[in-house]
Amino acid sequence: MIIARSILELRKALEVKKGSVGFVPTMGALHIGHRTLIDAARRENDTVVVSIFVNPTQFLPGEDLSKYPRREEADFKICELSGVDVLFYPDVSGMYGEDEVRICAPDLRGYILEGASRPGHFDGVLTVVMKLFNQVRPTRAYFGKKDAQQLALITQMVENFFMNVMIIPLDTVRESDGLALSSRNVYLDSIQRQEALKLSAALKKATEMVMRGEVESNAIEAQMRRILEPLEVEYVAIVNRAFQSLSQVVIGDTIVLVAARVGTTRLIDNVWM
Ligand code: PAJ
Repeated sequence: MIIARSILELRKALEVKKGSVGFVPTMGALHIGHRTLIDAARRENDTVVVSIFVNPTQFLPGEDLSKYPRREEADFKICELSGVDVLFYPDVSGMYGEDEVRICAPDLRGYILEGASRPGHFDGVLTVVMKLFNQVRPTRAYFGKKDAQQLALITQMVENFFMNVMIIPLDTVRESDGLALSSRNVYLDSIQRQEALKLSAALKKATEMVMRGEVESNAIEAQMRRILEPLEVEYVAIVNRAFQSLSQVVIGDTIVLVAARVGTTRLIDNVWM
């Protein structure tokens, strides 16, 4: 595995590679969710590139940028063992300059739900993903459905800017008790870890209700909020794949989302129906 710490090193590493390039952008602290993306990229491409970059522009002031988990050595090992060809590991000065052109998230879809809780967050995500795509020039790029709105906005950016990359979505990987894997789970102590199960429990309830024929969003949201108590809920939402609010679940075109705080840790989860 080649570790490229600059765009020059990345270009040199990729120059000699032939065929398709599968790309998995991450912020590190890799877990089985990331591994699943890397494994899919490995199966479907000649060359696999993973990036690890804790992108400062997607963190709002006061968020966890400085304490975001950093695990260089373990992450390198995981990539190596997963058959990654090139690990792109740039520093901030290699990615950003002064007074730059930026990508803006769309006014509506970029500023509801996650975008309302974290205004500007998606501008930073889209900007860095645009930069990474231009550096890596992937054939396919792999993203988790866990970050459903991020996935939708990146897909939209690729369409809106006529970018030549296939976006491949992959299902959320969970612990055996239902908790969605997240780099931020390390912030949870054992009691909070139990409390965090309320997110997946609420989504499970939503699925059960729909399977029983209850499709009214209001009824489902009310039940979910009951299960989430006493967590500080930021939103519970039922939307279609275009992130428009739905008054009723439409099977095949619905995402049920939740964001809540467990202690000071902000967690998100969702289920696709
Ligand atoms: P990060 O949170 O490290 O996530 C990297 C990728 O892993 C994302 O596509 C995310 O959806 C996926 N992922 C996270 N948890 C997952 C799980 N439990 N199951 C399946 N996939 C999971 O998302 C980011 O980084 C950044 O915003 C990034 C796109 C790299 C831009 O900075």
